[in-house]
Amino acid sequence: MGKYKFIVFEGIDGSGKTVQSKKLSESINGYYTYEPTDGEIGKLIRRVLRGEIDYSSETLALLFAADRREHVSTISRELENRHVVSDRYIYSSIVYQTIQGVDLDFILSINRFAIKPDILVYLDVDVEEALRRLGKYRKEIFENRDTLRLVRERYWDIVKNKIFKPRYGYIVIDTTKKSIEETHREILRVLKERGIIEQ
Ligand code: TYD
Repeated sequence: MGKYKFIVFEGIDGSGKTVQSKKLSESINGYYTYEPTDGEIGKLIRRVLRGEIDYSSETLALLFAADRREHVSTISRELENRHVVSDRYIYSSIVYQTIQGVDLDFILSINRFAIKPDILVYLDVDVEEALRRLGKYRKEIFENRDTLRLVRERYWDIVKNKIFKPRYGYIVIDTTKKSIEETHREILRVLKERGIIEQ
């Protein structure tokens, strides 16, 4: 087992995972990365998310898996030298694509190459607070109240039913009433307590 850890952040849109994953990555001198990626497949995915292309939900699931396959190569390479912090990973596919009606077994099977992360940091947030944070910039297909509610429920299902369980399990942090700094300190504290990062 490598000395560096693969840490994944997940949460509903507006949970603060992008800010928090970047901040953590800076604090531990890690490599910050995200999905969908900036690669060619990732760019195509963003066009689908903006509603510019209308693909079936299975096609979108396959695109996310293809984008991830390339991403996994980068992650594995980076892990040889530093911790890797990823903003979204396979859990996003399990949550969002099943909401679009794609079968869970299909998703797991097309993602069979996906390496297990060491830990999943799930940032929970009240849906109304998430909508306030998203403000007027809401434009992607999943960023509406009903979908956010469903997404939040499915993330809880993953944690409760231990789906695609990371090596060291899950960390759940409620960010609803916390400032960015408070959440950041809490994440560092728990990761140290669990022995994922050094004291
Ligand atoms: P998001 O993190 O919101 O990117 P950005 O903040 O740059 O817009 O991710 C875009 C959307 O993609 C988000 O609504 C969740 C969705 N998504 C999936 O549906 N499946 C996946 O496998 C991934 C990684 C993301």
